[in-house]
Amino acid sequence: QLSEAEDHYARATAAARYIKLLTPIQPRLGLILGSGLGDFAGKVEGALSIPYSEIPNFPVSTVVGHSGKLVLGTLGSVPVAVMQGRVHAYEGYSMKEVTFPTRVLGLLGVQRLIVTNAAGGINTSYGQGAIVAISDHINLTGANAVTGPNEPRFGDRFFDMSQAYSPALRKLAKEEAEKQGWKLDEGVYLGVLGPSYETPAEIRAFRTLGADLIGMSTVHEVIVARHMGIEVLGLSVVTNMAAGVLDQPINHEEVMETGRRIAAQFTNLLTALIPQLAAE
Ligand code: 6GU
Repeated sequence: QLSEAEDHYARATAAARYIKLLTPIQPRLGLILGSGLGDFAGKVEGALSIPYSEIPNFPVSTVVGHSGKLVLGTLGSVPVAVMQGRVHAYEGYSMKEVTFPTRVLGLLGVQRLIVTNAAGGINTSYGQGAIVAISDHINLTGANAVTGPNEPRFGDRFFDMSQAYSPALRKLAKEEAEKQGWKLDEGVYLGVLGPSYETPAEIRAFRTLGADLIGMSTVHEVIVARHMGIEVLGLSVVTNMAAGVLDQPINHEEVMETGRRIAAQFTNLLTALIPQLAAE
């Protein structure tokens, strides 16, 4: 009889084993593509694309626009594992399920992870469509993915989160954006459960707390990545301003549309950055 933590490890190992049998690619870099940003997976060369539904124990998303495939291949000769779509806690998935794919990436050998998302802009200096490097996060989802018995094969019971978003990787991203002729701002991402967007009063409160960006993903994946010692670069696309910033409602279509609109800029940044992230 396996404990809950041992069972989670065994399930993740089974998924990783299944993937390893399908491809000789040994990814050192992982990429999680957020809402409206999934097209970047099409850039992977020599791609093996595995629907999440075929991978043992993998959670499958119910939201339109989160297509759900793991793509393995190379990007500028760097072996990568790209998650096209993710599941969210607001769909009813447990924290363990939400972070299961991140565990599998770790077991495949990923040492660096680029986490991307569509976020609402709390900081009024961001324009709609801005790409922002996440400098830190505030987890207000009310949960943590590493509660329960610790699995030491993943990491330690207690672990540091003081540089959860690697300053070194962020610096590389900023330098690359500057080379490409634009400024990559940075900001603090506040994670909530959702799926309702926030009220204007909540957004005012979160601004006071020091948040620049808000979204419903990322924080759990980053906690689990840090648990496994994976270095993280977080990138948000400000798909819309948060509630009360502009005199207009927020709708999911707008979120998806903005993602598509900045796709080229996003792709150019990632394409140039990925070889640099594998270099060290
Ligand atoms: Cl305004 N809020 C949340 N929670 N998630 C978002 C968003 C806002 N915009 C995009 N994703």
